[in-house]
Amino acid sequence: MISNITYMSGVKSLKEIDVTGQRVLIRVDFNVPMDAQLNISDDSRIRAALPTINYCIDHNACSITLVSHLGNPKGDYDPRFSLKHIQKRLERLLEKRVEFVEDFEASKAEIASCSLERVFLLENIRFYEGEKKNDPELSRKLGEICDVYVNDAFGTSHRKHASTYGITDYVDTCVAGFLMMKEIAAFNKALEKPMHPIALVVGGAKISSKITLLSAVMPKIDKLIIGGAMSNTFLRALGYDMQASLYEDAFVETAKQVLEDATLHKVKIYLPVDVVITNSVDHPVDVKVVPAQDVLEGFQAVDIGPATVKLFSEAIELSNTIIWNGPMGIYEIEKFSKGTYKIASAIGDCYAYTIVGGGDTADAVEKAGEKENFSFISTGGGASLELLEGKILPGFECLDRLEA
Ligand code: 3PG
Repeated sequence: MISNITYMSGVKSLKEIDVTGQRVLIRVDFNVPMDAQLNISDDSRIRAALPTINYCIDHNACSITLVSHLGNPKGDYDPRFSLKHIQKRLERLLEKRVEFVEDFEASKAEIASCSLERVFLLENIRFYEGEKKNDPELSRKLGEICDVYVNDAFGTSHRKHASTYGITDYVDTCVAGFLMMKEIAAFNKALEKPMHPIALVVGGAKISSKITLLSAVMPKIDKLIIGGAMSNTFLRALGYDMQASLYEDAFVETAKQVLEDATLHKVKIYLPVDVVITNSVDHPVDVKVVPAQDVLEGFQAVDIGPATVKLFSEAIELSNTIIWNGPMGIYEIEKFSKGTYKIASAIGDCYAYTIVGGGDTADAVEKAGEKENFSFISTGGGASLELLEGKILPGFECLDRLEA
């Protein structure tokens, strides 16, 4: 019986079809990290989509429409999440004009006409209520503006949304882009016959969406190393007062369950023993290192401390496969970046197969100067965790298959 990951590798890819004269819609993942001034802080995800976009341009697709989400806007239009912020960078990287489309329904006739050489970038698809609901109406409308659908949004391939899944009911030719194929090949290599011990290092602020995946990956891993905002919820579950730290009260019970599941599956758990705390993230004058049990009143944990770096680094060094997903603190602020960068170096120094997943973590690895020392840098955060769990990702499941 073939594994789920091998099954996913069997999707049809862009190179198997002829896009000449076709209207191509490419679902990309341009969900890039941005700073407070809305500057793109890492454009890796945009760069990663270039081979697919350029292939369609070079093979004379008659129009190319790029669809992505950015962040998680609540409700309608919100300028902070507009894909307009991406347009210039994309034009520079493609060396080509990109036309921004605020409302694809209003511009439908223009997009749907065969306009050779034109590249359209649609406004954030999550401004449409139907996107996350996988609404057939939105899927149909997207399907109407193209002849060929290419999914190259690996980072979003674990989502069953209108632009990643539902649309395939309304387009005859649905294939994977080059990034999707590259990612699945890399994970195939790492996960088909993984070298044990396998360490999963998790962190970051996307607590609610990741914590629920942890129990499911337990049978596959040997060590779970938890840092960053994610660890605050676990430390709270151990009964510590995390004061003003970012943690999710609603997931404290989930954290307890994860700890129980770890015991059940004999997975070793590593949690911070000390943390860097401050009483102000914006004006970090009062910064201290304290035991994880002793976060001061009015202070919040913003990075792992030196003893934790040592503990995590030793656990990492004794692993043969390491998957890292989520920073160890607010690495964007220099004072709180040490833990994340040191863990990047610890993983980079290992003689192991090392994968980093997710926009922020990949950005941190790059900033730490460790990019070349990782076996593979994935654009997928949540998607890579679900792969590790052994799921068939919806974004692959709905595409045409090679043997079909
Ligand atoms: C990511 O950043 O992991 C992807 O772009 C998916 O984003 P999401 O978790 O908001 O669906």
